[in-house]
Amino acid sequence: MCGIVGAVGFISPKEYVFKGLKMLDYRGYDSAGIAYIDNGIKIYKDVGSVEHLLTIVPETINSNIMIGHTRWATHGAPTKLNTHPHLSFHKRICMVHNGVIENYKELKSFLKEKGYSFYGETDTEVVANLIDYYYLENGNILETIKRVMGLLKGSYALSIFTDDDDQTLYVAKKASPLVIGLGKGFNLVASDASPMIEYTNEFIELDDFEFGAVTKDKVVIYNKDGEEVKKEAIQKDVELISHDLKGYPHYMIKEIEEIPQTVKRLISFYFQKNKFLFDPELIKDLKESDHIIFIACGTSYHAGLVGGRYFEKYDKSASRFIASEWAFHPTYPGKKPFIIMISQSGETADLIHCLNIIKEHNLKNLIITNTGGSTLDRNCMYSLLLHSGVEVSVASTKAYVAQVTLLALLAAALDKDTKVIDDLTQALDVVYDIQYHYKPLIMKVADELKDKKNIFYLGRSFDYFLSLEASLKLKEISYIHSEAIPGGELKHGPIALIEKGIPVIVFITDPVTASSMRGNIEEVKTRGAKVYTIATKSLSRPEDTIMVEDYAYYLSSVAVSSIAFYLAYYVALAKGLNVDKPRNLAKSVTVE
Ligand code: AGP
Repeated sequence: MCGIVGAVGFISPKEYVFKGLKMLDYRGYDSAGIAYIDNGIKIYKDVGSVEHLLTIVPETINSNIMIGHTRWATHGAPTKLNTHPHLSFHKRICMVHNGVIENYKELKSFLKEKGYSFYGETDTEVVANLIDYYYLENGNILETIKRVMGLLKGSYALSIFTDDDDQTLYVAKKASPLVIGLGKGFNLVASDASPMIEYTNEFIELDDFEFGAVTKDKVVIYNKDGEEVKKEAIQKDVELISHDLKGYPHYMIKEIEEIPQTVKRLISFYFQKNKFLFDPELIKDLKESDHIIFIACGTSYHAGLVGGRYFEKYDKSASRFIASEWAFHPTYPGKKPFIIMISQSGETADLIHCLNIIKEHNLKNLIITNTGGSTLDRNCMYSLLLHSGVEVSVASTKAYVAQVTLLALLAAALDKDTKVIDDLTQALDVVYDIQYHYKPLIMKVADELKDKKNIFYLGRSFDYFLSLEASLKLKEISYIHSEAIPGGELKHGPIALIEKGIPVIVFITDPVTASSMRGNIEEVKTRGAKVYTIATKSLSRPEDTIMVEDYAYYLSSVAVSSIAFYLAYYVALAKGLNVDKPRNLAKSVTVE
């Protein structure tokens, strides 16, 4: 949600800012804008795409400094006036913002009393004017930014310049990501490292309450007391943050096809020479805890449902919570709970809210994330990275499989149960089989489903958790209403919805529940449902749609999730939809 880029120095700021905005568009946006100084502050912005923005900006821009922004509307409709960058009342402060200022109404009233007026409805315009107000008062921009940060409640990553200095970008951060890229004779700013990798592999990540000044050859960062902090530059792996489509038509299909290499890479990170390689302190803390609490959102929550089972297998009691639920009614079963948070992006606001509570209560915690350097990675007690490479498509696929794989490895490490490696290897054979042999069949099913209004997924146990994820993926990108139902719950209500022709997709990979699932198939068939069954060979029947080789059934989400992912992808494709950027959704949900 909302992407920030900024550049100062001799490279063409326009080239970087536009490439950067394109790289960040995976975060989701409805409008875009840029600002620079060339005989005064110039701002170009509009509702619509970055490509559209490019058509309204001058071809040649002579400027040493530029900021750009993609906006995902929170405060105020997606209109041209509300689009960033924002300019203050006295036209001195120009800035872009990612985050939400919770007390913007009070601050706006204060400024109105001081004679300020506003052209739009955003919280960002209020911040620009607050800086304008104090800057006029004291003439020191860094002092002003420090003072304004003390007044803001909520989250923000800010990139700012003033009308009287085209050599300096100012930055500030709290609970929204901001990274500085270090160049030779130029420096860059962005919401994450990906837009900058073409220009540098050295980065400085701002921590909360830090602010600073970025010129073409210097970066100076201060803490909230205004003391200079020495920040270590970190190097990032270009390969892992590259946005290259590598010949695929969409990121989603590319990322589905990267699942095998993702799982293999993950195993090699956490298991070598017949030994698990997790931090011994983490394993000790997990073993000593008497209850594991999984907290996450969306797809990551679905991975947590599976992970809970994995830990129960090794005698750990576990509960699972949706972050936005737990945050408002936190419970901590057990005397020594250990919290495992899961987040592809590491920036999900609901989860950051939970982390603040977890810290207040001094609870041991771990984040499982794909994004090194993200807010959760930096602020949790332990962090395990998924090493999946950047996931661009809004619909998470390879990161989900990586989350489940990592949870399987971690739980097994508690008991040094190395069988998990053979099980994962066997599950990967199934994934390859699906990739090489089943895509034409899945496309055919997708074609039958594309015009349906409602679709049901059925499963039990691990197949139910997978059904939840399959259903989310389908609704997310195909806009078809879909529900996942545990087979046993059908009779308790949902069966009332089954009517002639309604598609029901059934997973049968668990030997314990297979015969009950066959009973469920009969129940829906009798009522006219069109059933598509995905089963493992030993549990299959000739009439099933897809039969895959047997695997350790607890790994359904690794072995056969790609069937669900391909299906959602091909349905969305058949409907002519924007697969990678579905409407209303953002890759990083950085507002609550
Ligand atoms: C996944 O396909 C979804 N886009 C969404 O549910 C996502 O998993 C959720 O927003 C959580 O994001 P996170 O993993 O980055 O925390």
